[in-house]
Amino acid sequence: MPGKKAKIAVLVSGGGTNLQALIDAEAKGVIKSGEIALVISNNPGAYALERAQKAGIETAVVLKKELGSAEAFEQRIKDLLSEHGIDLIILAGFMSILSENFTKAYPRRIINVHPSLIPSFCGKGFYGLHVHEAALAYGVKVTGATVHFVNEVPDGGEIIMQKAVAIRENDTPETLQKRVMRLAEWKILPASAEKVCAEIISD
Ligand code: GAR
Repeated sequence: MPGKKAKIAVLVSGGGTNLQALIDAEAKGVIKSGEIALVISNNPGAYALERAQKAGIETAVVLKKELGSAEAFEQRIKDLLSEHGIDLIILAGFMSILSENFTKAYPRRIINVHPSLIPSFCGKGFYGLHVHEAALAYGVKVTGATVHFVNEVPDGGEIIMQKAVAIRENDTPETLQKRVMRLAEWKILPASAEKVCAEIISD
């Protein structure tokens, strides 16, 4: 159907530079088969919420503490997704692991960006800056980012796209994180979102 778009929800916890890359990609037409309809944060102070509001995107904050249990937290997210008719869930720096019960409800409809070349430096405990600290501590010469479908295994779902980034001798976790974002994450996340949305609307 011409003009049909997949509805996207982006789940965030922090600064939201990947959310910004998605917003900019939609504005530029890099994402043309989907539209960001909702941003959900598990952190009320996340700067990502301001980015969404500036772009005129509806936001919601969901707090495990307030809802009392992991089950109630995930149920609230599910309710928001269904109220907004969401077709694709994008985890963009969402620092909470979703249960098998949740991931099984959305097969091939959740994607995540991870700041390493999976299967290196991934799984439980590998998030944010820790991933880059581990890569530097190991001494790898190449790292990068991965976008993958989310299943019940943390960082274990089918890979959609990857991009390599060379490590420099004087890198710190912070300089490496910035370069991996700029050269890899902010490119492959929007490109993967477009690829999956195009598949969803052609289903
Ligand atoms: C990004 O580097 C993302 O890949 C990482 O957190 C950062 C969030 O930054 N995600 C993970 O480590 C998930 N395992 P952002 O809020 O600026 O997009």
